[in-house]
Amino acid sequence: MGRLRAAIVGATGMAGQQFVQALTRHPDFEVVTMVTSRTVKNYKEALLEANGSSRWTQSTPVPEDMSDVPVISSKEFDPKSVDVIFTAIESDLAKELEPWFAATTPTFSTASAFRYYDDTPLLITGVNDEHAKLVIRQQRERGWKGFVLPVPNCTVTGLAITLKPLHQHFGVNNVLMVSMQSVSGAGRSPGVRTLDVLDNIIPYIPNEEGKVRKELLKILGECSNDAISPAEININCLCTRANVLDGHTESVFVGLRKRPDLSEIKKVLQDYNPFHGRRLHSAPDRMIHVFDDPYRPQPRLDRDLGDGMTTSIGRLEDEPVLGGVKYVLVSHNTKMGAGKGAVLLAESMLEQGLLG
Ligand SMILES: NC(=O)c1ccc[n+]([C@@H]2O[C@H](COP(=O)([O-])OP(=O)(O)OC[C@H]3O[C@@H](n4cnc5c(N)ncnc54)[C@H](OP(=O)(O)O)[C@@H]3O)[C@@H](O)[C@H]2O)c1
Repeated sequence: MGRLRAAIVGATGMAGQQFVQALTRHPDFEVVTMVTSRTVKNYKEALLEANGSSRWTQSTPVPEDMSDVPVISSKEFDPKSVDVIFTAIESDLAKELEPWFAATTPTFSTASAFRYYDDTPLLITGVNDEHAKLVIRQQRERGWKGFVLPVPNCTVTGLAITLKPLHQHFGVNNVLMVSMQSVSGAGRSPGVRTLDVLDNIIPYIPNEEGKVRKELLKILGECSNDAISPAEININCLCTRANVLDGHTESVFVGLRKRPDLSEIKKVLQDYNPFHGRRLHSAPDRMIHVFDDPYRPQPRLDRDLGDGMTTSIGRLEDEPVLGGVKYVLVSHNTKMGAGKGAVLLAESMLEQGLLG
């Protein structure tokens, strides 16, 4: 079978550029169209600002195979012209456009528009793949040939990945988390003002904590009879913005139902390798890397582990207050937590025979 024809909607934005990087020379998907608010000749031209500067903000150049991809406005786009759509647009626009896309074509989204519907799973590849079958209910009830699969909020991604093996082996009952989130997570619009974040920590991110609480319980919940029952875990969190470009750092305190030795906990985290035996182009060799060095993980040093798809853990210690374990994690918010995570999800759906 040849590669599936793909479109990237919102390709010029921050998350869209991550899709562009994740889909370059991809073995399963070929980007044949990009969609923005206006029609221009190609992607190279779409990135050009009126003053001659480029909107491309990545540290590597625009991939060669992407520069000449034609760009059309969403008004002219025909979702039926492609096999799969990757969207990176604001949530209000996603609410309007994604149902139209999904009527004919599977759609993978970085927006939050669909995350909380009962018929929509919130998938992290390797964490809750068994929830994927819920898209069949979404298709049936909405009369769609395609579906909308949103990826979770980037702050919950590393948390869910690290809690999954702990929950599976020992049962998690309580979680407290404090995040120090990178500025790229806020995107460009509205973004974070330089004057606010330089030499600073901002102790509040609007709406973030509610998303983390709700999404974690959905991701770690049980899926049966076409519905997800949220995990029975007490969780609270406090989300802050730090002066870091990419990579969310989180301090996590976990209460466990069973009380294993720290060495058992470490082994369970290190051995967690849900990609073993699967052929997923964007999957890292290791889902989790555990550092013994107490000065790691650090966002600048460790966010790119596994090309931004491995979650790093350090400071693994007993947690006597909640009765369990505490640790620090670093997760790449725009890679595993957004565009590349969504591409990995599309690869996984293809492998499971749920795409195309
Ligand atoms: N930033 C991140 O790291 C991150 C992480 C996870 C999730 N997300 C989510 O991803 C989504 C996009 O965020 P972002 O930060 O990438 O935003 P952004 O930088 O503002 O980009 C928005 C994109 O939407 C396009 N667009 C605007 N109006 C459009 C229309 N009518 N039709 C088609 N495309 C249109 C823009 O294209 P033109 O301006 O060229 O027309 C641009 O490509 C949001 O829902 C956000 O919550 C972002």
